[in-house]
Amino acid sequence: MEKLVIEGGIPLQGEVKISGAKNAALPLMAATLLCAGRHILRNVPDLRDTRTLTRLLENLGAVVERKGDCLSIDTTVLRHGEAPYELVKTMRASVLVLGPLLARLGKTRVSLPGGCAIGERPVNFHTDGLRQLGAVCTIKEGYIEAEAEFLRGTTIYFDIPSVTGTENLLMAATLARGTTVLKNAAREPEIGNLVDMLNSMGARIAGRGTDVLTIEGVTALQPADCRIIADRIEAGTYLLAIAATGGSGRVTGCCPADLPSLVEKLRYAGLVIREEGDSLAVSWPGAQTLVGVDIKTAPFPGYPTDLQAQFMALMTLCNGQSAIHETIFENRFMHVAELRRMGAKIKVDGRFAVVSGQGMTGLKGAPVMATDLRASSSLVIAGLAASGRTDISRIYHLERGYENLVEKLTGLGARVWKERE
Ligand code: EPU
Repeated sequence: MEKLVIEGGIPLQGEVKISGAKNAALPLMAATLLCAGRHILRNVPDLRDTRTLTRLLENLGAVVERKGDCLSIDTTVLRHGEAPYELVKTMRASVLVLGPLLARLGKTRVSLPGGCAIGERPVNFHTDGLRQLGAVCTIKEGYIEAEAEFLRGTTIYFDIPSVTGTENLLMAATLARGTTVLKNAAREPEIGNLVDMLNSMGARIAGRGTDVLTIEGVTALQPADCRIIADRIEAGTYLLAIAATGGSGRVTGCCPADLPSLVEKLRYAGLVIREEGDSLAVSWPGAQTLVGVDIKTAPFPGYPTDLQAQFMALMTLCNGQSAIHETIFENRFMHVAELRRMGAKIKVDGRFAVVSGQGMTGLKGAPVMATDLRASSSLVIAGLAASGRTDISRIYHLERGYENLVEKLTGLGARVWKERE
């Protein structure tokens, strides 16, 4: 296993180009299963998670080729409609093949994802929604089994806006008979990317960007040629890293409108943020102090749970207190114990954390352990800001979601490298 070593305390400077979004690439790759033919997806990040989904598509019979950041996915022949436990257990987003496989084949078997480091993460919205669309959907021997001669449009209301739940039902409904209305649907930008791809394939979806999506079923779709949007979570992570080191820099190739809450929260903390076309620049004001700011995670356009851990790392370096309320996942404070090892003062009570910021010299390097993807990136930010050396073990978590992390950080002037444990 490899670990990441960081010699901290260097203010990051310069520009970093943002990759395609992991959480858009995964549903768009799954959507290629909806119809036979050769699909082209552009700006696909080369990550552990996109590789896992590639393996799953290949296992189903698809032929996948990568040239640079472009994936060609030929789904003309599907050998079967089963997503095995061996693949789903390594990446729960594999459940995204459920809707498309059912819609195309009329029958599918997808392993039920197991527990997860950040919370229970049930998939009842996915299975209940498919039942409402007329499928017989049961759980047998650890697998979701779904079958339907055809799907029937209906109205489905989400108790909580679910990102992959919305995506799965959206994909399934494109080929249903009649009209489906998804209410209280998630509005994350990645869903807009999926709607654009599906509409370019011949689907009829209205309501893009809103919480009511209306899907008029069609009888056939054609292959897509579509570009993955920039990764707003990667962009936010680099902005926070630059801010936490007292540096100044720019993330490019991103969509500032996809980060409304983070941008405002950084401004409240005292940073200067400038939106310039497809880039966001962050710099420090004259006085080198930041104030603590509260955040509460919420579905888009609220503050993203996927940037909560990284924001907490910045808050350990502020003056004053910051209250952090995690409303999406019940166990998403795994980074707290590791940040404490670096000297952070954080109290946790259930889904609330209170960070007592200790100013820019508050963190000291330490050996720490990555526990999930975003927790790991908060440790990277803390390590970059801390004085001394930080060794982060289990970095395979980071490789799930950050393309060329070491190269990009090095480009910003960080001293960071991988070593064998
Ligand atoms: N929920 C249910 N039942 C369901 C589905 C969800 O109760 O059937 C609950 C969840 O437990 C959670 C809430 O609904 O409390 C929202 O979860 P959601 O379904 O939106 O999460 P997800 O679709 O499984 C995606 C991202 C996550 C991101 C969340 C929230 C992908 C592949 N994953 O997960 O990304 O944290 O939305 O924005 O899009 C990450 O990239 O690190 C990551 C975890």
